[in-house]
Amino acid sequence: MAHVFVAGASRRVGFETVKRLREKGYEVTCFFRNADDKPAVEATGAKALIVDAFDENAVNDAIAGASPVDALICTLGGKPGDEPRIDHIGAKHCINAAKSAGVSRFLFVTAIGCGDTWDTLEEKAQEFLGPSLAAKNLAEADLFSSGLDYTVLRPGALLDDPATGEGFVTLDNKVLGAVSRADVAAQLVRCLESDRTIGQVYQVLDRGKMRTDAPFEEAVL
Ligand SMILES: NC(=O)c1ccc[n+]([C@@H]2O[C@H](COP(=O)([O-])OP(=O)(O)OC[C@H]3O[C@@H](n4cnc5c(N)ncnc54)[C@H](OP(=O)(O)O)[C@@H]3O)[C@@H](O)[C@H]2O)c1
Repeated sequence: MAHVFVAGASRRVGFETVKRLREKGYEVTCFFRNADDKPAVEATGAKALIVDAFDENAVNDAIAGASPVDALICTLGGKPGDEPRIDHIGAKHCINAAKSAGVSRFLFVTAIGCGDTWDTLEEKAQEFLGPSLAAKNLAEADLFSSGLDYTVLRPGALLDDPATGEGFVTLDNKVLGAVSRADVAAQLVRCLESDRTIGQVYQVLDRGKMRTDAPFEEAVL
């Protein structure tokens, strides 16, 4: 059974990912800050650690202490207005810790609007999301130059709705729309299980929640 480490796992995409991994029989270790969330995470069968990702030594200790780990999934995210933001620094600490601990596989959740998808966003969204996307861009750049076997998933607008099973990934950088967090989790696990996703950056959306009419191709994994 493969051992997957999830950074930022107490709620939303991270928690959905932990649940999905456990349902599929993976051994899971994860971290987050709020100890109140520990019982719910541990009820999935995952091992939960309380770690602040701003603390580089704590991240290193958590990931090294969980060894051997086969893959790390980073779903860390902050709230609008957070200063400093966790998006870059937290991912950077996870990337460095993965390298130190010999974890070569790294899956990273950022957002549509990063990198070559910036122009797809409307001006208002660029203004609102700009600071978070700038931090995520720096984190993506660190990952691209890390030498790790990375896969980046950039979801559209995230919804707390139940999974539809209609989530997909695409290399098309013009797509816009929404997707449930549970469907993002399903796509993360799908990417984890396909070596064809190594070195790729995907947009993640739901076929029924697209906001673009232009044709696009889904990625074949
Ligand atoms: N909102 C959207 O529409 C949207 C769209 C596309 C992409 N995204 C991105 O997708 C990702 C997942 O978003 P989400 O809304 O599902 O989750 P989220 O609410 O951003 O949750 C992030 C997780 O990270 C943990 N976390 C945050 N700061 C931490 C720290 N300093 N140390 C340790 N853990 C920390 C949180 O737990 P604790 O607070 O307990 O630490 C939580 O488990 C984020 O990167 C988000 O920016 C969001």
